[in-house]
Amino acid sequence: MKNILVTGGCGFIGVNFIRYLLADPDFKGRIINADNLTYAGNPESLENIAERYPQRYYFEKADICDQKQIGAIFEKYHIDAIAHFAAESHVDRSIVGPDAFIRTNINGTFNLLEQTRRYQEQIVLFHHVSTDEVYGSLGDDGFFTETTPYDPSSPYSASKAASDHLVNAYHRTYGIPITISNCSNNYGPFQFPEKLIPLMILNALEGKPLPVYGDGKNVRDWLYVTDHCRALWTIMQKGQRGETYNVGGRCEMRNIDLVEMICDLLDRMAPDSLHKPHRNLITFVKDRPGHDQRYAIDFSKLEHDLGWSPEESYETGIEKTIHWYLENTKWVNRIKSGAYLSWIETHYADNAS
Ligand code: NAD
Ligand code: TYD
Repeated sequence: MKNILVTGGCGFIGVNFIRYLLADPDFKGRIINADNLTYAGNPESLENIAERYPQRYYFEKADICDQKQIGAIFEKYHIDAIAHFAAESHVDRSIVGPDAFIRTNINGTFNLLEQTRRYQEQIVLFHHVSTDEVYGSLGDDGFFTETTPYDPSSPYSASKAASDHLVNAYHRTYGIPITISNCSNNYGPFQFPEKLIPLMILNALEGKPLPVYGDGKNVRDWLYVTDHCRALWTIMQKGQRGETYNVGGRCEMRNIDLVEMICDLLDRMAPDSLHKPHRNLITFVKDRPGHDQRYAIDFSKLEHDLGWSPEESYETGIEKTIHWYLENTKWVNRIKSGAYLSWIETHYADNAS
């Protein structure tokens, strides 16, 4: 893998992956980041990376749905591997407006696969970054395994499920060398503050309500983003072609417990905050339609076959994340401009119960 095309490399996980890979002394290749910079894409998150890694990192503003743009990138950089992150990724947005999810997640993945097929002779891997949400919802017991039947609930997870099927089909039909990872909820630096953890941190610091959907008893499995990046690179290097690997944090938490934990940490880590105790800001709001009750991952295949397991505990991971948002005020302030504010404010005005 000498010339890796990273799609969606200006988003939360893509940024962390690019930083992770370029910092790995064993990786000598080039990264070509193709991103069309939607509201979730932030080139600022990769500030100075091109200067720090000359001849190793390149950015192309390109839409994965555009045949010409993507074909030209394969040609220009002699792409031999693809790490496909680009997606519309927020469940709430997919409920309000599914169109963009169908376009990017399904049609965009289809177009990337077609370009990969066109340049098949030079391709050693197409890695597809996907989600555990394709499996639907669990009750109180059990875990998702790689053989759990797909049962997506939201337009987001349905579009990711469709893209997973396409990737598998291109392996079986055309022999494209693929791997797929289905991962649980990520958190950490550079996450756009519409997702639960950064939203709660930033709202709390501003004294805004902390909107918990429904009764707050929905359970998510949380994985620190650097652990995910290490899992991705492990799968890309050692994973068997044609296989799917589940990735999880062994860290199940109820939303309400997680939000209370964030509040308590903020009381300690932001002692000058005018909004202590931050727990007083917690507000229960109308539930998300089709809200999956519980996610939990069995990642024993990845652990046993490829030797990966998560290193960060949620205690250290959440504290590190809060610290990052407290320190990186320039990034936070830039993010919290027009597009972000208008979505969040309209969304929660509609949702107030
Ligand atoms: P994100 O929303 O933060 O970033 C998505 C990136 O894709 C942005 O930079 C955006 O500009 C880019 N993009 C969107 N449409 C594009 C298009 N048509 N062409 C080119 N670029 C486009 O998402 P994320 O949280 O970094 O997630 C990355 C991937 O990981 C997604 O495929 C998502 O489904 C998957 N995933 C995310 C999580 C999570 O907890 N965030 C968990 C499991 C899997
Ligand atoms: P989210 O970060 O949107 O990830 P996903 O929907 O992909 O799991 O949400 C995580 C959990 O937190 C989910 O159960 C919905 C809940 N949630 C809230 O209670 N309030 C919020 O403001 C948000 C964004 C999410």
